[in-house]
Order: sequence, then structure tokens, then C-alpha cells
Amino acid sequence: MRHEPLFQIRRDHAEYIEDAWYAVARARAVPRTRALALRRFGRALALFRGPGGRIAAVDAACPHRGADLAAGRVVDGALQCPYHGFRFAPDGRCVAAPCEGQGFRIPAELAARTYPVREAHGFVWLWWGAPRDEYPEPFWPPGMPDGEGWNTATGALEWDVPLPLAIESNLDIHHTPFAHRRVTPGLGHRLDPYEARLDGDIVHSGGTLRRDDDRPWDGRSGLGITLNCKFPALVFGEFRGGRLLVAMAPIDATRTALVFRYHLDIPVIGGLLARLAVWSELRLVQPDDLAQQRAVARSGMPLHACRFVPSDRAIVLWYSLYRRRLAAQRDARGEQKDAAAS
Ligand code: FES
Ligand SMILES: [Fe+2]
Repeated sequence: MRHEPLFQIRRDHAEYIEDAWYAVARARAVPRTRALALRRFGRALALFRGPGGRIAAVDAACPHRGADLAAGRVVDGALQCPYHGFRFAPDGRCVAAPCEGQGFRIPAELAARTYPVREAHGFVWLWWGAPRDEYPEPFWPPGMPDGEGWNTATGALEWDVPLPLAIESNLDIHHTPFAHRRVTPGLGHRLDPYEARLDGDIVHSGGTLRRDDDRPWDGRSGLGITLNCKFPALVFGEFRGGRLLVAMAPIDATRTALVFRYHLDIPVIGGLLARLAVWSELRLVQPDDLAQQRAVARSGMPLHACRFVPSDRAIVLWYSLYRRRLAAQRDARGEQKDAAAS
């Protein structure tokens, strides 16, 4: 029997959770006739629209001699390399090598590495993991409108901290009155009531920030918020009058891409308020979060050294999933190595 390997969980360095969909970009960022250059999972990628506008993702390094496919253009539904004009279909096959003429038999090895992608809910979802015959649908939070309607707003950021710290930041309720003091004056600092639980691979959490009057909650006062995470990297939640979503993906082991979407269920001015919410998230709120997370990353403090308190429970639950999945991935790799050696 195999034992779960004992290893430290680092928080200053992400390991990529496999076999999962990640929202890697806004769908509208992928143009019609050119490619979108994107760095995710430590790889340079090129996203482009093939026949029918379907999005495809390939490694940006051209398999001919390494030029940048993301700087190419789309010709007849295939991505044309800017260097020698070789063209690559959405399935990665090279379909034209102009210098060799039309009769040339293009070798199968001259193919770009592809990644499974889907366009849904206004995002491009990339499957990080082994290809399979059938894929689950990318998870979408119940109640969150599909796509980018009039009363939603979306904005993107890149952080120079690893994914686990971006998750910690976005699943943390009780930092709000302190780290965001300048935008939340007067917000209570007691998190009560608070609940966090696991349901499959979804962390659910919710609580109320209120004044600490040393009495049981009156059922009304304070600011209520829920923050959930579809493991590994889709945080979604609710607050009075609205919903938010934070779709994260690793740029590499130490950097994270974040896309925020707000939906405000308020007639007439909902769209304006959603844009305002995204603006303040990007300009006022997240910079304060980033400052904290940079300090945490610099500290190099691993998971086992953290002294968690009950209000951190959602984060602890996320790490329990992370630890379990990393252990399973390492076990699977060990088994592959064992099989190769025998
Ligand atoms: S390097 Fe891309 S076609 Fe030559
Ligand atoms: Fe925050």
C-alpha cells in the first residue's frame, strides 16, 4: 500500500492542479484574425479563432524553428507563423509549409502542441491535464448570469504572487476591515456568525462582519458576505444586492492572473454600479490585498507554520483539497515512474 507522501505545502510557489478547467482569459480578448498571446502554467500560449470562430490554444513556440505563433495571423482558419508562413490548424497539425510547395508531405511531427479549450460564459476555459475523450462542463456558479450582460462588469489583473496566495486573499473575509480600512470605514471587525464547509470540491463559506458588542448577533446588523471556491481556482460569492466572481489561473509558479466579474441586481443603475465595483476592486481593493500577499510570499512561511484561527476555515478547507490533489498527482507520477522502470 502506498502512503501519502509527507511534504511541505509551499505558499510562495504554486504547483499546478491537474485535470481541471481554468478560466484563462475573457473570450472577447481573443480576436478574429489574430492571436492572443497568453502566459499560463509557465507556458507561452497562442489563442486564436479557427473555423466558425471556435477558439483554439497552442504553444506559442512554432514547432518549425521556434518563432512566436502568437504574433501570427489567422489564414483560412489556421494560425500562420510570422516567420516562414507555416500554418497550423486548431488541432495543431501543420497544414501549409509554403517554402516546400503544395505537393510536400508535411511530417506529422511538425505539429503544434494544443490544449483543450472551451468558450463559455464570456470566458476562455483551458483544461490543464491529460487529454480525455470527454470533458466535464466548466463549472459556473448558480445565479451568476451567463456572459457579460448590461448589469455585469469585468476587469482583469495580474499578480506577482502564486495562486495559493491569490486564493487565500479571495477566500478571506475577516481581513476586510483592516487591509481595506480606507474603503470600508466603520466596518465591524468581528466575523460572527461564520460558517465554512466542503461539498465535494467546492468550499462554501459565509459570514457577517459586525461590531463586536459582546452579544449574540441580532440577525440584522453588519455586512453579510458569502465566498465560495470551486476548486481549484474559481471563487464566487454574494453580498447584498450582487454577486461576484474571481476566476484565477497561474501565469507560472509565482504569478497569478485574476479576472473579476461583478453582477448587481439593481434596476437601471446596476450596470453603472457593477462597473464602479470592478473599478474600485482593481484600483483600490486589490492593490491593498496584493501588498499583504507580497509580504506573505516574502516570508516564505509554509502551510504547516501558519497558526490558523476559526475564521480562516475556508482557507484551511481549500488547502485540504490542494494537499490531497497534490498527493494524488505525486502518487500517480510515482506509479508511472515505477511502471516505466519495471
Ligand atoms: S519558425 Fe514558424 S514557420 Fe518557421
Ligand atoms: Fe481583500
